[in-house]
Amino acid sequence: MNNMSKHIKRGRNMIDLRKGDCLDVMKNIPDNSIDLVVTSPPYDDLRDYNSEINFTEIIKQLYRVVKDGGVVIWNVNDRIKNGSKTLTSFKQAILFNDNGFNVNDVMIWEKTNPMPQVKQPRYNQVFEYMFVFSKGKPKTFNPIMVDCKSAGINYNSTCKQITKNNKRIKKNFIVNNKKIDSNIWKFAVAQNKTKHPAVFPLELPLRHIKTWSNEGDVVLDPFMGSGTTGIACKQLNRNFIGIEIDDEYFNIAKEMIGSDSNE
Ligand SMILES: C[S@@+](CC[C@H](N)C(=O)[O-])C[C@H]1O[C@@H](n2cnc3c(N)ncnc32)[C@H](O)[C@@H]1O
Repeated sequence: MNNMSKHIKRGRNMIDLRKGDCLDVMKNIPDNSIDLVVTSPPYDDLRDYNSEINFTEIIKQLYRVVKDGGVVIWNVNDRIKNGSKTLTSFKQAILFNDNGFNVNDVMIWEKTNPMPQVKQPRYNQVFEYMFVFSKGKPKTFNPIMVDCKSAGINYNSTCKQITKNNKRIKKNFIVNNKKIDSNIWKFAVAQNKTKHPAVFPLELPLRHIKTWSNEGDVVLDPFMGSGTTGIACKQLNRNFIGIEIDDEYFNIAKEMIGSDSNE
C-alpha cells in the first residue's frame, strides 16, 4: 500500500499508521476486519484541518470494515451558529442509523475542568457526546464496574411474577457490592503537550477500548490526530490502525505512540 508510511510489529501487537485521507485509506481495509473504532472527527469547522469531509461516504466505509457486532465510538459536540446549537452531532447519529448502525448508546463525557464561559444566555458547556454505534448487537461488552453505596443492605420490593395472572409478589433483595458504571463519564480535558489542538484525554480511549474490545482485537482511528487512541491500544495490547491526513499531526502521532508519553 503506497500511503502506508509506518507498519511496526512490536511483540504481539500491530501498530499500523497510515498518512492520507481516511476515505481513500479505508478503501484498502478489508470488509469485516475491525473490532472497534474510537475516533473524534473534525466537526462544525471548529478548527481548520484543510480537509473536506464526506461523512456519508465515511460512515458507509466504516460499516463495511467493521465486523458484525463491532462498535464505533464517535466523540463529537455542537457549536453555536447564529445563536443556535447546530445539532451536527445528532444529524451525524441519524446518518449512522440510516446507514445500518444501531445507536447502542448516547454517552456523555463530562469535563471536570471545563473552559469558563461568559456573556452567553445559556449554562456553561461542560460535556461532549460519545455516541456508541454498533453493527448489530455489540459482540463484546466488558463493563466498568463501580462500588454500590448501599452494598449488602437488605430491602423488600415488589416484582412482577411471570404467571398467568401477572400477580406482583414481594421479594427480598440484597444490594450487590458492584454495579455497572453509568453512561456519564467524568474526567479532565487532556493536558496537551503537543501542537495538536484537540487531543483526547487518554482516559477516554482507554475506557472504551477496555469496554468494547478484547486483547488482540483490531482498533481503528480514522481521524488519528496526535495518536491518543493508538497509545491506549499499545497499553492494552490491542492492534491499532491510525489514519491522519495532516503531515505535522501524523508525525506527532508517530512520536507519541512510539514514546507513550501523552500523559
Ligand atoms: C479532532 S482531531 C482528533 C484528535 C485525536 N483524537 C487526538 O487525540 O489527538 C481530528 C483529526 O482528523 C484529521 N483529519 C481531518 N480530515 C481528515 C481526513 N479526511 N482523513 C484523515 N484525517 C483527517 C485532522 O487533521 C485532525 O488531526
